[in-house]
Amino acid sequence: MTAHALSPQAREFIEGDHHLLIGGEWVRGRGADIPIENPASETVLTTIRAASTEQLDHAVAAARAALNGLWGRMNVRDRGLLLNRFSALIERDAGIIAEIMTAELGQTLASSRGVAGSLSPALFRYYAGWTDKITGEAFDPIVGADVQQFMGLTIREPIGVVGAIIPWNASPGMMGLKLAPSLAAGCAVVLKPAELAPLCASYFARLWQEAGGPPGSLNVVHGHGATIGAAMASHDGIDKITFTGSTAVGKAIVVAAAGNLKKVTLELGGKSPFIVFPDVDVEAVARTAASWCFVASGQACIAATRVFVHADIHDRFVEALGNHTRNLIVGDPTEPSTNLGPLVSAAQKQRVAGYIASAKAEGARMVCGDEPVPAVGHYVRPAVFTEVDPAMRIAREEIFGPVMSVIRFDDEQRMLDTVNDTPFGLSGSVWTRDLERALRVARRIDAGQIGVNVHGPMSPQTPFGGNKQSGWGREFARNGLEEFLKIKAITIRIGDRP
Ligand code: NAI
Ligand code: MG
Repeated sequence: MTAHALSPQAREFIEGDHHLLIGGEWVRGRGADIPIENPASETVLTTIRAASTEQLDHAVAAARAALNGLWGRMNVRDRGLLLNRFSALIERDAGIIAEIMTAELGQTLASSRGVAGSLSPALFRYYAGWTDKITGEAFDPIVGADVQQFMGLTIREPIGVVGAIIPWNASPGMMGLKLAPSLAAGCAVVLKPAELAPLCASYFARLWQEAGGPPGSLNVVHGHGATIGAAMASHDGIDKITFTGSTAVGKAIVVAAAGNLKKVTLELGGKSPFIVFPDVDVEAVARTAASWCFVASGQACIAATRVFVHADIHDRFVEALGNHTRNLIVGDPTEPSTNLGPLVSAAQKQRVAGYIASAKAEGARMVCGDEPVPAVGHYVRPAVFTEVDPAMRIAREEIFGPVMSVIRFDDEQRMLDTVNDTPFGLSGSVWTRDLERALRVARRIDAGQIGVNVHGPMSPQTPFGGNKQSGWGREFARNGLEEFLKIKAITIRIGDRP
């Protein structure tokens, strides 16, 4: 995107100061300078300043003080109203936020608008509704012989100070996943956005202030993963880390979290299957497979990267897929006709190019993807490979780019064995009109969420998370709220004192 395509509001925000938000104050970062690139034009949008580790300590202390102060004492109705105000502000500014997201990330403006104007405010509104519905239980504990001597109670308390570490993809959605349930639960949060795309988080910090968020309830610190991210994971003042990103960093966080045994929720990589049986509209489902593999130029954890196609329709499906994919428009993400914007960085493009080269070297057949791309910008053509052996690297590793592996099958059980022969278990979908088959296959896929004739629907009420090395815990829905609550049991003697 060229800078002149930005609205004056978006441009003014991007070029302004991106201070840290600590304890309700804007503080100039004392860490390294981080230039933020527009991946479409390869120009520097702005430079932000990272927090120093001392400033991270201040942010953690401010969060703790908020829990012990105004924020911790806020009436649950007012907490809900605050989250609703915040949701309305995100909606009000969704156009600006979408522009910022596209500028720093390269994702098409149309899809940025969906994330900023729809998914993100929906999550804040959904969790606003939970604030006054967090309840415990009363029960008769089995203590002593006389049931009238004791009463048991459980209460649900905020888990404490939360460190939220988010990735660069779809950050307004990521903030909905992390901030909405943790703040609804009454936690105080230190948010660290990704160093590649931190500007939407910077904008959300401003909106939280405008909504009237009490000092220290939400703190935003910028910084690199290896410094500030790692310092959060090992910080003794943080009670819980909620993280989305790579499986490798997820494992590093678990190790670092061992110091104070902080609780950890992880949403990590995926290699999601998209399973197509012969009784479908082949052309339509081929287009859908492409749209879910190439969503956000493939930079989505739920991307449908392994497409299993029944032998009876394989060749027709691949032909339809190739014809469709060759016509997808790769280019300026602010153009309404564009299907795929650039990848987030030169490093990501290089990484993806490495996978494409490995697929060719390992003998997969490239159906399309070799066409030229714009000279400036981190563009990659969407690539479809057939004759992919499930042992090949492109079929096993998370690529995070627009690369599809088509795998032919005829036997349902053998196909399922291959589907599940992966360290990941995030998502997947099955495409057929035969409901019995659909449910049988859905039950056998080892993943957190499965679509039947739909892929990757994101609804606030639908639990989302990964099995195996795709993560720990669940986000969205009541499950996402529970990740930020801890239960306290209280037993009360109500009969004769001893
Ligand atoms: P990453 O996992 O390194 O970055 C995600 C976040 O973690 C960023 O905020 C980063 O600053 C932080 N971080 C990095 N190292 C950390 C550490 N040691 N301790 C604490 N926080 C740390 O992801 P990256 O390098 O940007 O992308 C690499 C690959 O990760 C992608 O190609 C993709 O496969 C995967 N990924 C998956 C995502 C998902 O949605 N599941 C999102 C982003 C990346
Ligand atoms: Mg990294």
